[in-house]
Amino acid sequence: MTDFTTLTNPCSGVAFSAGITGVGGYLPEGVVTNQMLASRLDTDHDWITSRTGILERRIADESQSTSDLAVEAGSRALRSAANPEVQALVLATTTPDFRCPATAPYVAARMGLGKIPAFDVSAVCSGFLYATSVAVAYVNSGHFDSVLVIAAEKFSTLIDPNDRNTACLFGDGAGSVVISKVPVGTGGQILAHAIHSDGELESLIKVKGGGSRYPLSPHETVNRPRSDYFLGMQGREVFAAATASMSASVSDIISTAGWELDDLDWLIAHQANRRILNLVCKSLDIPPEKACVHLDEVGNTAGASIPLLLAAKSRQFKPGDKLVLTSFGAGATWGALAMTWPALGTIEAP
Ligand code: COA
Repeated sequence: MTDFTTLTNPCSGVAFSAGITGVGGYLPEGVVTNQMLASRLDTDHDWITSRTGILERRIADESQSTSDLAVEAGSRALRSAANPEVQALVLATTTPDFRCPATAPYVAARMGLGKIPAFDVSAVCSGFLYATSVAVAYVNSGHFDSVLVIAAEKFSTLIDPNDRNTACLFGDGAGSVVISKVPVGTGGQILAHAIHSDGELESLIKVKGGGSRYPLSPHETVNRPRSDYFLGMQGREVFAAATASMSASVSDIISTAGWELDDLDWLIAHQANRRILNLVCKSLDIPPEKACVHLDEVGNTAGASIPLLLAAKSRQFKPGDKLVLTSFGAGATWGALAMTWPALGTIEAP
């Protein structure tokens, strides 16, 4: 899906389009190193670093829920924006505070945003790109001038701490952007975006229990296998699908934006695995130093990983730099977005 929709101010004749005007990220304080995992699981630091590039991850404590992470990240994004007024909130999360209701209205209330529309989007590791595409559509259609997008995950609640296949990979965190009307041609403009899904790949990454297909049961749940209620993943298949989907998405979005591959300044790819990033770069002949890396410090923070990466690496970017964002996640869902970097206020370190 390409969106070149622009609005024109009838008085000035200036054309406007959706762009990023604020960025924020938040990480919980608790650090879990590879050595800490190796002290209780059948794994070791060398295996984890050589297979994934991850050195440590942040895990929220018991008192923190997804909404707590979301409020922190969203508040930071608004503080970095010249205009903190927003008319809607879209929250991407796989780990809402409750199965019902959605978490976004509570986050909006806690942030003092008033009675604005606020809703959750569920697309796991592609959640940020999905939520952003909703915000971009709102702004490009003229429905709202400014929308707050937050991606927040307490993903550790989906992970069996005793499963070495997944416990080494994931962490908690939140990231946020403000999507507002910006004059066409100025920094921050979102030039193209595309999202995709393939439900045939549903079984690649899945939490089987707890939904309507296989509900929690006060009587039966305790007798069922523990793995029914935690994330299961077919690692090799996910690796291959993520590499292929993100490579194709990056290539497509670059041509949709009217750029050449050489024009790209920064690749902001979902932080799942360092080897996946390297292969995406290799397949497209992108110099690996253009791929921003944060997963060594935070692991895979699911939907939060892209905006967290933007916040963490913002000092590297100059206004006008050309960025491509891309992700792959459970569903399967994937996508990409092409943008230029905006001139922003101070972005706090996550
Ligand atoms: N420590 C030691 N051994 C481990 C381990 C760990 N933490 N986790 C898994 N293993 C073992 C497995 O049990 C398996 O053993 P087996 O061959 O005896 O069955 C073996 O390592 C798997 O090896 P392999 O398939 O060669 O590993 P890999 O190179 O594919 O790396 C992943 C495994 C999970 C790191 C990799 O497949 C991956 O990153 N996949 C994508 C995951 C992802 O990004 N998910 C989120 C997408 S949004």
